[in-house]
Amino acid sequence: MTALGRPWSPTDIDRTRFRVDEWGLREDRFDTSDLGVVETLFTVSNGYIGFRGNHEEGRTSWEQGTYLSGLHETWEIRHAEEAFGFAKVGQSMINAPDARPMRLYVDDEPFIPDKAEILDYHRRLDFRTGILTREVVWRTPSAKIVRIRSERMTSFAQRHVALLRLEVTMLRGSAPIAVSCQIMNRQDGEDDFGVRQHSLGKGIEPRKAKQFQHRVYLPRYRYQEGTRSILGYRVAQSGMTVAVAADHLLETADPVHVSGTITDDLARNVFEIDASEGVTTTVTKLVAYHSSGGYPVQELVDRCVRTLRRAGALGADGLRRQQREWLDEFWARSDVRIPDQPVVQQAVRWNLFQLIQASARAEGWGVPAKGLTGSGYSGHYFWDTEVFALPFLTYTSPEVARNALRFRVQMLPQARRRAEALSLEGALFPWRTINGEESSAYYAAGTAQYHIDADITYAIAKYVAATHDWSFLAREAIDVVVETARMWASLGFWRGVNGERRFNIHGVTGPDEYTTVVNNNLFTNVMAQFNLRYACGALARIAQLRPDDALRARERLHLGDEEIRTWELMADRMMIPFNAHFGIHPQDEQFLDRDVWDIEHTPPEQRPLLLHFHPLVIYRYQVVKQADVVLALYLCGEAFTPADKRADFEYYEPLTTGDSTLSAGVQAIMAAEVGYQELAYDHFMSALFIDLCDLHHNTDDGVHVASAGGVWSTIVAGFGGMRDTGGRISFDPRLPAQWRALSFPLTVAGTRVRFTLAADALAAEVEEGDALEFSVHGEAWTVRRGEPVRVPLAGQGPVISGEPEIEDLDGLRREDGTLLTASIPVVTTEIPVIGPDGSPVGGPDGAGSR
Ligand code: BGC
Repeated sequence: MTALGRPWSPTDIDRTRFRVDEWGLREDRFDTSDLGVVETLFTVSNGYIGFRGNHEEGRTSWEQGTYLSGLHETWEIRHAEEAFGFAKVGQSMINAPDARPMRLYVDDEPFIPDKAEILDYHRRLDFRTGILTREVVWRTPSAKIVRIRSERMTSFAQRHVALLRLEVTMLRGSAPIAVSCQIMNRQDGEDDFGVRQHSLGKGIEPRKAKQFQHRVYLPRYRYQEGTRSILGYRVAQSGMTVAVAADHLLETADPVHVSGTITDDLARNVFEIDASEGVTTTVTKLVAYHSSGGYPVQELVDRCVRTLRRAGALGADGLRRQQREWLDEFWARSDVRIPDQPVVQQAVRWNLFQLIQASARAEGWGVPAKGLTGSGYSGHYFWDTEVFALPFLTYTSPEVARNALRFRVQMLPQARRRAEALSLEGALFPWRTINGEESSAYYAAGTAQYHIDADITYAIAKYVAATHDWSFLAREAIDVVVETARMWASLGFWRGVNGERRFNIHGVTGPDEYTTVVNNNLFTNVMAQFNLRYACGALARIAQLRPDDALRARERLHLGDEEIRTWELMADRMMIPFNAHFGIHPQDEQFLDRDVWDIEHTPPEQRPLLLHFHPLVIYRYQVVKQADVVLALYLCGEAFTPADKRADFEYYEPLTTGDSTLSAGVQAIMAAEVGYQELAYDHFMSALFIDLCDLHHNTDDGVHVASAGGVWSTIVAGFGGMRDTGGRISFDPRLPAQWRALSFPLTVAGTRVRFTLAADALAAEVEEGDALEFSVHGEAWTVRRGEPVRVPLAGQGPVISGEPEIEDLDGLRREDGTLLTASIPVVTTEIPVIGPDGSPVGGPDGAGSR
């Protein structure tokens, strides 16, 4: 299927079950057919604690998930064929002890949602309160009717606190009821009902998490008294420690009996109530989690106790109030509004909510590719954070962006060691990691993605330009900027071409993992150029603004003027591959020599290619997993002319499978810029609904956080046409034809401005701070507090209909006269022969390869 003809639509969502709700995700019918997906979608998380949307009974599930940012186990990666410098330390996010289960028994019959007779069911995740609520009416086997309301929240204001509540009312009949509140170690096998942490995998799936054979949690502490339970563990191989504590509060007018039991793997606080008809019983469970790299468990237990004391003093109402205030501020800084488009509006807010859920209180840890919503990619951090999540955070929650970048600064020692292992200077950041060590066992599509170094520096540059946080740059981030520049300087080399010296970078993989270990990947070189230049510029800037810090940094980094001058030269003479014959930038030096993979005619059951073809088969072709050159066009747009951008976009678009969810947003932004407005909207919709419609069939493993970031970038940079060049904000808007208006806030240097785009004007209004300068189509404007600005627009850029097609490439001739043919790899004995006129000759269909 072509991009414009995708066989799905958001209207396919069953709206009798998932009604449109602009401020929440709601489910109005209980259904287990897509359990894994809805568990992911209904996750609550504050960026430190993540509670997957499993039902409170803790039974029927696709994957049980309770995660704490950074909490992981390590293992030794055993390569069947070892080589020097291969990654050695595997890391996997593990399930934290699960404090969610609150099991209900009526007349000693357990409430098990998928077996029970459910008369009414509603679930809603509210984006403004950050609370997941569920209401169920259950008809018990003895014909009694019970209403069960539950509530779940991970506090944005109190990083270590979660609130869980269960409210039970006998609507018909009275009965003895019991609420069993548990904390359960699910990581080490089955729970008491034989429910495993994971359902079985789906066959070969490189994107899934690892399962362990050994016992992961070594019990170190357990305590139970009154209605309090505490468990503490050391993680067997990573040495991390974790403690969880729960306090319970029971409110009822009926007689009660309270009891509890505790073992190493299970704490239970049980409340038995003689429930009479019409009387409501509420159990409130306050939970505290603390984890660390290796502090004594007792220390974490003490922290949990202190946290619980504070949370208890606030009570459920206080916690809810704080949560609402926190989110009100978040939405004031972040809300994107698209009037008269409720379906899109809801989905946009859901995506933005995912971004903040994944990052808000990570503090000291990174943003996993799936946030804390599922175990996909083992909870690893990739470049997804810097290139996809950070743009949103930088302009809406700069404090959170800063924390994510500080986390990279703290990883420098490991990155320096890694550079050394690869015979490089400076620092090489890991392609995928939790603890800073490279965890990618497949170097070709992992470590070879050196571009991660430049991605991090790029994100630092954008953050500093947008916030003017020179202190962060001068005191901490400059070390990353310098060490990454050094890495490029030692990785690349000089080579003379036609009397000129060029700085080349060989043996790298760009973002497109369908082509690996190549020479002069355009994206890598352009980003390395940025990195080298930025290092020079940043050093000069901090020398002016913070001379003492700058001096200290140069001493600390043993940095002399000569070294800085060489970076300038390398950047200026960077090899930027360009093919004059096709008038495009080849993705790398060998790229155009390859045959073209005919994606358009590849059967859908063979997609994504990575699950159906050996990497070597894929590597033989011009086929792109995700935007690569096209991403460079966006990130470093000023390095390309409009004509370059259009030619490159048209060449790569039909080759791009979008098999990575990171791609659609980038394709949308560049489609909008060059003029394929309808196509841009189509890609945007794919990114917007990737999880809500499970378009990649793996939302059960967790939310695609980078795609959510791509949604924001498409709105602001694609449709809003915003670019930030060294802190200068400019606009060249492209409002989708389907929309009446679009509005979004941006915070730049402490001033928050809401921009509202309509067909005929771009309006700006200061909501916080003083003033902001920006430009529209090159014309300068200043918006001041109390003086909104309205910039008239004559049109919204070029409009090209349709989309570039594979047929546009099929049959082109390379410079050496050979044909660029599009095919699909099949086993064949036919020998294709192409005649002088370019048409196939011989064999039943001539080519035998389609
Ligand atoms: C993509 C990477 C990405 C990773 C995690 C892969 O499929 O190719 O670019 O970093 O997923 O999201």
